[in-house]
Amino acid sequence: MAKLIGGLGSSHVPSIGAALDKGLSQNADWKPFFDGTVAGQDWVKAHKPDVAVVVFNDHGNAFFLDKVPTFAVGCAERYEPIDEGWGPRAIPAFEGHAAFGWHLADSLVENRFDPMIVQEIEVDHGMQVPMELFFGRPETAWPVKVVPLFVNVIQYPIPLPARCYELGHALRKAIESFPGDERFVVIGTGGLSHQLQGARAGFINPEADREFLVDIAANPAKLAALTRQDYVRLYGSEGAEMMMWLVMRGAMDEAVRVHHTHYHVPASMTGAAMMVLENVAG
Ligand code: DHB
Ligand code: FE
Repeated sequence: MAKLIGGLGSSHVPSIGAALDKGLSQNADWKPFFDGTVAGQDWVKAHKPDVAVVVFNDHGNAFFLDKVPTFAVGCAERYEPIDEGWGPRAIPAFEGHAAFGWHLADSLVENRFDPMIVQEIEVDHGMQVPMELFFGRPETAWPVKVVPLFVNVIQYPIPLPARCYELGHALRKAIESFPGDERFVVIGTGGLSHQLQGARAGFINPEADREFLVDIAANPAKLAALTRQDYVRLYGSEGAEMMMWLVMRGAMDEAVRVHHTHYHVPASMTGAAMMVLENVAG
């Protein structure tokens, strides 16, 4: 059976991708952030996953407000990186894992989740940036197949944090019931705290971010028990996307070891983080 070998967490701030495109990763502003991502890349190189389930939200690029699924599973063989308005980026398309996508959708339904099924979609910075932070920029092909798992954190009503955590439990069941011996990672993306609009635009909460990074490993039930309003209050209206890390955490065992954690503030208007979790039981 397939195996989950790690839970990864990453911000997906678009300016991180822009910094890489412009070759700015080693300048004084960006170096402290990118230095903290090397350990995540080293872990991935050492552990060689075959498949990455990437939990993220589309940002009005592929789904617009006219149609927003609460949860959606990618069942495509290929995902093109979307042009978000600055022109095409020099990153390869992502190879999908349609067989696992269909298995995941079916397994979620068996476990009382009913996702939208997506056979054709382009993917935005929500997936592009975390993939590059963990896997670097490949010349021709990414070293893993990807399965996008979309969560609506944009158009209210967004799901409960507790529901995201439970979705992670169901994702774990799907991985462990998939035939074969592929090695999976789950990447939870987004955050950390940020608010891009309204009266609190520019709001960042580094203290709450640092507490989140401790709790997501040691006490995820606490984060799952918070309300959606708590997420907006603590982490900002866009920081509410941090609840997607709970999908990743819910897929892991209760007992995890923190292999790596990194926090840098700010990247653009956001507290930026990376994390690598391993199951204590291996
Ligand atoms: C920013 C952060 C995000 O997570 C996002 O989706 C868009 C923008 C930012 O800080 O600029
Ligand atoms: Fe975002």
